[in-house]
Amino acid sequence: MTTTAKVATRIMSGMRPTGRLHIGHYFGALINWLDFQEKYDSYFSIVDWHALTTKYQASREIPDNVREIALDWLAVGIDPERATVYVQSAVPEIAELHLLLSMITPQNWVEREPTLKDMVRMLAADEKEARDRATYGLLGYPVLMSADILAFRGSLVPVGKDQQSHLEFARDVARRFNTIYGVDYFPEPQPKFTATPLLKGVDGQKMGKSYGNDIKLADTEEDTLKKIKQAVTDRTRIARSDPGHTDLCEVPWPMYQIFGKEITARVKEECESAGIGCVDCKARLGGIINEFLGPIRERRQKLAADPDKVRQILEYGNAKARAEAKKTLSEALEIMGMIRWRY
Ligand code: TYM
Repeated sequence: MTTTAKVATRIMSGMRPTGRLHIGHYFGALINWLDFQEKYDSYFSIVDWHALTTKYQASREIPDNVREIALDWLAVGIDPERATVYVQSAVPEIAELHLLLSMITPQNWVEREPTLKDMVRMLAADEKEARDRATYGLLGYPVLMSADILAFRGSLVPVGKDQQSHLEFARDVARRFNTIYGVDYFPEPQPKFTATPLLKGVDGQKMGKSYGNDIKLADTEEDTLKKIKQAVTDRTRIARSDPGHTDLCEVPWPMYQIFGKEITARVKEECESAGIGCVDCKARLGGIINEFLGPIRERRQKLAADPDKVRQILEYGNAKARAEAKKTLSEALEIMGMIRWRY
């Protein structure tokens, strides 16, 4: 058995099936996935157990959302022949690894996770609800995420900035396993960010599925234009004839950056000379986004008309992922000296 053999760069990442994806997912993570699937062995997971950590009451909605995410991924070009695309709960070995990792993870590590504290605060209206929300499963969120990554011995994890603390956690867990059992088995996974690691929504807060501030990949052109219209611009610019300040423009200006130097240079010149007003500037941005998303939306519609195909793609990926996670689990058990109990 190869308990110390290094695996070549392995990519692992995931998304929660809590609704359709938005351009924050795309520019914050998926563009790196598209790049990595060409170069490395890549595992992309629809993490339905993670969705349950906060949406346990809406469990019945999760399977539909799994399908929505699969459609979004396939529409942007995630290729099930290149990458392994699968559903977390179809790989029960991840749950077993999560259990094993939970045994070696000190309680105070999970309790001090900043991202979880933010999650509970945002989801709960008051103290009582916060207590209700903070379940045992939610507390274990970063341990489960570590198991997701380590089950595939992932070394590079393309994610947005909000996942940074979870990745630090996963590294600590990998290191702790290696130290306790005297091996160099699990790689310490590093995050990989895009040029847009945190995209703001139209209200200036982080773009999020549940905040009503997002532009979804699958929105209609009209929806996109309507949402962009609401985007917060330069709050100090009162009249159309006032010169604008791109450095004070909260949403459109950072969004323009995604689309390259040429357009940003033009916007800067026109905005700061009062050549263009915020209303027109936002309409133009909406047009650019719609143009970019056009082919993705078209592909998505075609795929949505063929539910069997999506199901087959996931079944294919689930089997591949399961074979790999099985291998890791049995190696981890062997390292722990537990393998005999499995027979
Ligand atoms: P989730 O489902 O919230 O988001 C999926 C990915 O999209 C990125 N993202 C953004 N990036 C930039 N700007 C935004 N506004 C924005 N919104 C979302 C997220 O950073 C993420 O990369 N805990 C993870 C899911 C997970 C996971 C894993 C990720 C579970 N297991 C293993 C990697 C590896 C999450 O909740 O992502």
